[in-house]
Amino acid sequence: MKSNLFLLAVVSVLLNQLCLAQTNSTAPSENSSVAVPVLRIDAGKVTGKVSPALYGLMTEEINFSYEGGLYGELIRNRTFKADAVVPRVSPSNYVAGQYVPVTFRAETKPRFWTPVGGASIVLDTNNPLNEFLNVSLKLDASSASATSPAGIANDGYWGIPVKPRTTYQVSFFARAADGFKGPIIVSLESTNGQTVFASAKISGVTGDWKKFEARLTTKSVTSSKDNVFKLTTTTPGTLWLQNVSLFPPTYKNRENGNRPDLMQLLADMKPKFLRFPGGNYLEGNGFNQRFIWKETIGPVEQRPGHPSPWGYWSTDGFGLLEFAEWCEDIGMEPLPGLFAGYVLGGGRVEAGPALEPYIQEALEEIEYLTGDSKTKWGARRAKDGHPKPFKVTYVEIGNEDWSPSYDARYAQFHDAIKKKYPQLQVISAVGYEQRTNIWVTSRTPDLVDEHYYRNMEEMMAQSFKYDTYSRTNPTKIFCGEWATRVGSPTPNMAGALGDGAWMTCMERNSDIVLLSCYAPLLVNVSQISGNGRSMQWASDLIGYDALTSYGSPSYHAQKMFSTMHGDEILATDSQDIPMRTWQRRGRGGASPQTQQLREIFFDATRDARSGVIYLKIVNTAASAKQINVRINGVKSVNSKAEAVVLAGKALDDTNTLEKPENVVPRTEKFEGLSPNFTREFPAFSVTVLKLRAK
Ligand code: AHR
Repeated sequence: MKSNLFLLAVVSVLLNQLCLAQTNSTAPSENSSVAVPVLRIDAGKVTGKVSPALYGLMTEEINFSYEGGLYGELIRNRTFKADAVVPRVSPSNYVAGQYVPVTFRAETKPRFWTPVGGASIVLDTNNPLNEFLNVSLKLDASSASATSPAGIANDGYWGIPVKPRTTYQVSFFARAADGFKGPIIVSLESTNGQTVFASAKISGVTGDWKKFEARLTTKSVTSSKDNVFKLTTTTPGTLWLQNVSLFPPTYKNRENGNRPDLMQLLADMKPKFLRFPGGNYLEGNGFNQRFIWKETIGPVEQRPGHPSPWGYWSTDGFGLLEFAEWCEDIGMEPLPGLFAGYVLGGGRVEAGPALEPYIQEALEEIEYLTGDSKTKWGARRAKDGHPKPFKVTYVEIGNEDWSPSYDARYAQFHDAIKKKYPQLQVISAVGYEQRTNIWVTSRTPDLVDEHYYRNMEEMMAQSFKYDTYSRTNPTKIFCGEWATRVGSPTPNMAGALGDGAWMTCMERNSDIVLLSCYAPLLVNVSQISGNGRSMQWASDLIGYDALTSYGSPSYHAQKMFSTMHGDEILATDSQDIPMRTWQRRGRGGASPQTQQLREIFFDATRDARSGVIYLKIVNTAASAKQINVRINGVKSVNSKAEAVVLAGKALDDTNTLEKPENVVPRTEKFEGLSPNFTREFPAFSVTVLKLRAK
């Protein structure tokens, strides 16, 4: 039965490819170089509904996205576990979900901390705060005196942002050897030591672990990032420290919350969902290095943390609840990726009894997010501070699990999830862009997740792909990772143009493309190369350092698409679209091929209630184009309209920390419209025209 369905779907894909290829192809006319391109909108013909959740976000711990990024914490290596020796485990010696402690080499000096004023520091595993933070920083401050304080300093993630009239929340756990009289002084200072922006004294440190807190408030200072956080004493003694934390004000003042400027950039995109926690970050390099959600909840000082597959330690202060609260804060739905028994560093659990504990883990994760307080894990969420369940519509099984063993593992998850949560839509991590022999065929996934990282021309070349997908296949499309990867650290105008072309394709086909999200989302641009760099993956939507942030041209293109569209897809076609010749690179040993590429891409949607037609036009050409727009099926078009235009002076035009608004959309009001009008569209531009038609 299932395989018949599958055959039907394949035949239907092929048939659709045949017919739609005809309806969408635009033969260049003989004199296409001079003819004015014509875009036709048939407002009387709605081809489908725009998916209300089409535009979302995708995220993971990469490029210092949370630690040193979105997560408010300013101290780097606050738990001193960045030097952990992580045991290697395999499915044969690992009990699913069992906590595997890390160890530390003797005499290790903790990374990202420096001694101050003659102090010495070392990692100490004796008498730790708890079994999860099983190490502490031992501070020998025997040299301390009133004139020469001794202690530790941390310069954060490539700097500590100090802003005027701002209150920072300090907290840490400490204990002391007998005889320590204190107090401890915490301060925010410039790196050169010349300016102390704020400081506070803390007393009462004893031989037992205790939590201490203080507030540091700055005066009317100039914003800066070349600063350090210091914890010192003027009294000789030995101290042990753990979870040393410094938080600035957060978005919506959430405790353990997020950086406001980045949250605002994201909120402005009005995304509908968040795919998390990865990406590779879901899978990790080992069974003990994946995103073990139960180790990411509860008080932060009881979260052990783990190494990210992108090469640095995550404290997991940004855990499962924080992901969900991030969604809540900007009105998105969580779309969790559930660990599917496959890790990147080799090793997987086959379908069958061995996979059951992971199925259970996934069901419990869903319960933690969506269950009410009467359920075991819903009650745990309430205890963690969030009694109200989160709304979840979609869950994904694994990430890029492109192995022949996936089908059987998917089936086991699918059945268990559908049994307990029949309302959930289950997504396969193997999309139709993959070879057919690894597609899920034993079940009918609600959606499949497709990933596309391309250059500009490749994106343009595939921008009619979804027009040819089956309309009868019950399985819909989630384009869960995609980007035009041109420009580093963040994409340039070429990236925005490739993205724009691709988004016209997804939007025009959003009757079947229900969800999409660009990846990666965030990059700390402080050090984009070299050892210990802040960027592991080039071309990311939003860039930032410790102090400021900016959206790339791709960010702006995406925001334009996400915030300006209707709910009905209108039929369109075109003629005399200018073409250019492109030499496609030969993949996998194949020789390069010459191909004709369209230079203009477009789609039209309408808001059923207001009648506003959103016409999106992407002009990838190096010259401005006169384009004739003809709207059929309407009585009249209001002569006044609005255009939002994102245009670059060149393909490599871009935004940076220094020039964050070099390429941003401009809004123009204009007049003289009718159902048949001609308008000039700038070179290298993405335009949204808002047309009022009746
Ligand atoms: O987005 C970066 C990486 O690309 C993701 O972690 C992974 O899923 C994909 O290969």
